[in-house]
Amino acid sequence: MTSPFETERLLLRIMQTDDLNDVYEIWGSIEVMKYCGGASTKSRIQRSIDFYRQLQNEKGYSVYTVLLKETSAIIGVCGFNPLENEDEAELLYHFNQHYWGKGYAAEAAAACLASLKKNNTHIRKVIAAVDPANPASWKVLGKIGMTAVGMKWFEDTQQEELCFELELM
Ligand SMILES: CC(C)(COP(=O)(O)OP(=O)(O)OC[C@H]1O[C@@H](n2cnc3c(N)ncnc32)[C@H](O)[C@@H]1OP(=O)(O)O)[C@@H](O)C(=O)NCCC(=O)NCCS
Repeated sequence: MTSPFETERLLLRIMQTDDLNDVYEIWGSIEVMKYCGGASTKSRIQRSIDFYRQLQNEKGYSVYTVLLKETSAIIGVCGFNPLENEDEAELLYHFNQHYWGKGYAAEAAAACLASLKKNNTHIRKVIAAVDPANPASWKVLGKIGMTAVGMKWFEDTQQEELCFELELM
């Protein structure tokens, strides 16, 4: 995917090493990560940033830093994780709590999907899994046109999650 790419209100770009403190406000937050495996540490986040920079180089997609165009504030992260099946990727979006409820997640996620399609990576199917107790998250997936396909057990979170899919081609 070509970075940066933008929407009406947002700019999405490849993660940078010095995003660490802003991303820690997101991945380090107990509240934000309540349904997503729990809060992370600064050193793990640093490794994730390195991982996503490398993923972008190798596969042409990754998880991006989301900035508000108006202020240049880093407000979230959104993009794709690789999956065991190389034709598939997992969509994720985590936003700083100060910026919830303004439609930013749906706007960013839709832009990531459009960019993935446009840049013709090898990804054929996008998958997302959400905790059923997290309605804000499954509402985002509905808004961007993903389809609920049923519940599935996940070892990492040790629970059943609601799965969504979108075929890209
Ligand atoms: C999930 C998340 C990304 C949504 O971000 P957002 O920018 O607020 O999302 P949007 O504004 O695009 O849409 C959220 C929708 O959920 C609704 N919503 C928010 N909280 C809700 C709640 N507790 N119960 C029901 N609906 C809720 C909003 O009203 C909105 O729906 P609407 O457009 O019909 O009014 C954000 O809350 C977040 O970062 N949460 C923590 C991380 C997370 O759970 N990520 C996803 C799965 S790992």
